[in-house]
Formats: sequence, structure tokens, C-alpha cells
Amino acid sequence: MATNRLEEVRRRHAAAEAGGGEERRKRQHEEGKLSARERIELLLDEGSFEELDKLVRHRCRDFGMEEQIIEGDGFVTGHGLIHGRLVHVFAQDFTVFGGSLSEANARKICKVMDLAMKNGAPIIGLNDSGGARIQEGVLSLGGYADIFLRNTLSSGVIPQISAILGPCAGGAVYSPAITDFTLMVDRTSYMFVTGPDVIKTVTHEDVSKEKLGGAMTHNSTSGVAQFIAADDADCLRMIRKLLDYLPQNNRDFPPRKPCDDPGDRMDAELDSIVPETSNVPYDIKDIIHKVVDDSDFLEVHEHWAKNIVVGFARMDGRSVGIVANQPAHLAGCLDINSSAKGARFVRFCDAFNIPILTLEDVPGFLPGTDQEFGGIIRHGAKLLYAYAEATVPKITVITRKAYGGAYCVMGSKHLRCDINLAYPTAEIAVMGAEGAANIIYRRELAATGDRERVLAEKIAEYRDRFANPFVAAEHGFIDDVIEPRETRPRVIKALRMLENKVDTMPRKKHGNIPL
Ligand code: HXC
Repeated sequence: MATNRLEEVRRRHAAAEAGGGEERRKRQHEEGKLSARERIELLLDEGSFEELDKLVRHRCRDFGMEEQIIEGDGFVTGHGLIHGRLVHVFAQDFTVFGGSLSEANARKICKVMDLAMKNGAPIIGLNDSGGARIQEGVLSLGGYADIFLRNTLSSGVIPQISAILGPCAGGAVYSPAITDFTLMVDRTSYMFVTGPDVIKTVTHEDVSKEKLGGAMTHNSTSGVAQFIAADDADCLRMIRKLLDYLPQNNRDFPPRKPCDDPGDRMDAELDSIVPETSNVPYDIKDIIHKVVDDSDFLEVHEHWAKNIVVGFARMDGRSVGIVANQPAHLAGCLDINSSAKGARFVRFCDAFNIPILTLEDVPGFLPGTDQEFGGIIRHGAKLLYAYAEATVPKITVITRKAYGGAYCVMGSKHLRCDINLAYPTAEIAVMGAEGAANIIYRRELAATGDRERVLAEKIAEYRDRFANPFVAAEHGFIDDVIEPRETRPRVIKALRMLENKVDTMPRKKHGNIPL
């Protein structure tokens, strides 16, 4: 081989690796951010990265761009392994034109997205970009739309994960928004459709970048992001952990791990977590931690809509998605945000063959004009719809309240849940005893001279008759009333029984979930 060719290969590869140069990389580090290649190194199993399109160049000949050509054009794309399993990856390199998207590097992304679909393997995007490459105009916009199309077609087929490790603004936010999980790094990342300057001009509001679109804003206020990481390395570790619960694609099953935590382990402490008095709060996560393998629970959307808890764990070594009302927050009521949060999680689990364990303690939907005007009817229906259409194994344990519409919604037998269990503390009724007595005995209460005493009697009578799990169990809506200490073995037996479950949906193009 001609030596000069070999040298050219080496020179071009080295140029791609140098990206925007030492000065810009230094600035990236000073801002607490890693370079695109450093991130990929940390994300993937050691030495497993195979890069593609390292020699791609942009084709822009306007605004002096013909003088500024960098091999690879600022995006690093390829594939590698995480826990020994194939993943495809792209990383935007902020040191090259601010990580902006050109026609050429949009094609690089589309190439790995197409490979991910053909290979049935997850795609991970590491975002750190100033958005559309301004010098390229509509060619760049077209590149974004090509990516959005692929995000949409891949949805529900392969897991898609977005890490936001710097700016992500304008239309660029819509790719992460379509993906299954968005992770943001505290203080160094932000996402918004229109930035603080435009907002100031249009609405005269003064807002900082951090407040408008920082990691905590999207983790706690908007719900756009599901995870917040302390720094880049933490974020990349979190992606590795998350993938450990997921299958490679929608035809695959999540990896099963050897498990030392016995499947028949009982826990007597569970018997006293739910308080005797029904309006005293407790932390549902105490129950989750005692029931799952090795107490290990990866919470998703930890900081948003805290009245519902969702996340991944393993039981008997198998992945499960857990959805649990949180009595310690808003008494566990369902509202707009918790309905959307729960629905999205249930649909993810269903798309990727992850059984759903529901822990239910919900007094009802949150009352108020905010909720009604905001469309709680539409949003609450999402959760119901998601449970009803899910065909994965579904197991529900009612720990305490299951009142009204919320009883129906939260994985009831009527929505095709497979195994429904209840604690002795369960209260399954149309509404609480006070409300019920006031309505059904209205005339009697108006006629009596001793309203207080009669009302107290009627409340006690209703509570005795309905605020328990037995009526539902007598009708077979609950398969059994169990002792709380038995939760883990009973759920694991149900999961084993349901291992080969097959259920279907009627033939349709797609449903019309109330968005
Ligand atoms: C080309 C860009 C660029 C862009 C940044 N650069 N953004 N080059 N196209 N979109 C270049 C800068 O010229 C600079 O080059 C280098 O990247 C680093 O940028 P700085 O401004 O020095 O960095 P910083 O101060 O950290 O600010 C980062 C930033 C800012 C906030 C992202 O660069 C910025 O506002 N960029 C423009 C953002 C924007 O309006 N994008 C278009 C959005 S609309 P040198 O050579 O000096 O290092 C959009 C539509 C998508 O994206 C539509 C999809 C449907």
C-alpha cells in the first residue's frame, strides 16, 4: 500500500479525533462537560466502540464554510456494547460549530438510527448542540425532520434514550421528547423551544436559562425529563443502569438476572407499614423496597408528580415496572400530571414486555377547578386507557384505598389485570364513608332531630359494610386478601404463572388515546 495513503488515513482519523481543537475542548472541560468521545468511552463497555462515518464532511459552501471543514463534522456515531449487549449511539461534539446539526451529520445520525432498527437494538443520543447549523438553513431543518421521523417509527420497537449534556434548544428538543427517556445533567444542560431573550421580547418575562429549561425544571415542573444526573459521568452510568432492565427490542424480553434474594422471603415489617387510621400517610416506597429483589428500585420521574411513583425493579431476577400511588404526597390522589406520568410508564412497559406491578392506595381524583379546567377528564382517561390496552402480565395489590373511578383505573380486574390482591386494610368502595352517608341518608338526616348521632351511626354502618376488601373478594374482583408479609412470594408466584401469558388487542391501525 502506498505510504502516503496510509498516512492520509491516519491524518484524517486524527483530525476527526481532534474535533474543534484543544482550546475548545479545554473550554468544554472548564464548563464541567466532557467531550463527545470521552462520553462514549464512559457509556460503553471498555474498548467496544466501533465508529462509523468518521470521515464524513459537510458540503456547505456558503459563509466561508468551505474553509472550515472538520472530518466527521462534529458528530461521533457508531455502535458498541453495554453489559455485553449491542447499542447504537450518536454524540454531538460541541467543539465543532457548537455541535450544530448539518445536513451531513443528520445523515450520520439517521444511519445509526436505521441500523438500530434493523438490528433491534437500543439507540442512545448524547445531545450537546446549538441546534440547526445556521449556515446551512433548510438543509439542517430537513435533517431534523428526518431524525424526528425515525424517532417516531422506532417508538415502541427499540428503546430510545436521550441524554441532554449541554444546550438543546428550538426544534431540536423534539427528538428527545419523542424518545422513551430523557436524562439531564444538573447545571450544565438546558432545553427550551424559545429561549429567555425571545421570551423577554414577546411576553416581557424575565427568566434565566436555568429556571426556564434547566435539569431540575424539566425533572420537577414540566416532566419533560425523567432523570437528573450530577455530572456527565453520573448521567452515563444512569443510562447503563436503566438499560439493564430493558429488552433490546419489542420482540425480546428483558434480561433475567441470577437472584440471591429468595422468592419466598416474607417480611413481617410489611404488616405494620399501612397505618391503622386510614387518613394517616405512609411512604409507599417503604413497601416497594421490602418487596423487590435486594431492595433495588430505579425510580423514574422521581421529582415530578410525586403522588404516583413509577420505576423499575426486579422480582425473582425478572424486570418489573412498578406503578404505585404515594399516600405521602397529595394523599395519593390522581391528578393531571400523575395520570400522564403513570400512563406513559405503563405504555412503555407494555411496549417492551415488562410486567406491571401496581400498588394501589388512592382516595380518588384530586378535586378543584385547576384540575377540571386543565382537563383531568382527558388526562385521567389516559391512565385508564393505558392499563386497559396493556397485554403484559399485570398484577395489582391494593394496600388501602381504592375509591371511585380511581378503583377502576389503577389496574382493576375489569381492565384485564391478571392477579388482583388486597391487604386486610383495603377499602374498596364508591367513596369514603362520610361522603357516602351524607348522600344516601340525606333525607333521613334532614328529618332527624339528632343529626350528629344518626350521621355517626350511618358512617359506621357504611364503613363496616364497604370499607374493606371482602365485598370485592366475594365478587371475585379481588383474587385473594393476603397478609402484607406475604406480598413478595405471592407476587413472584403470580409472575411465574404469567410468564407465558398471551393476550391481544383487536385489529386496528392504532387506538386514539385521549392525548
Ligand atoms: C452554527 C453555531 C451554532 C449554530 C453555535 N455555533 N451554535 N454554529 N450553527 N446553530 C458555534 C458558534 O459560532 C461558536 O463557534 C461555537 O459554536 C460555540 O458557540 P458559543 O456561542 O461560543 O458558545 P456558548 O457561549 O456556550 O453558547 C452556546 C449557545 C449559542 C447558547 C448554543 O452558541 C447559541 O445561541 N447558538 C445559536 C443557537 C440557535 O439559535 N440555534 C438555532 C436554533 S433553531 P466558534 O467558532 O466561535 O467556536 C433550531 C431549529 C431546529 O435549532 C428546527 C428543528 C425542527
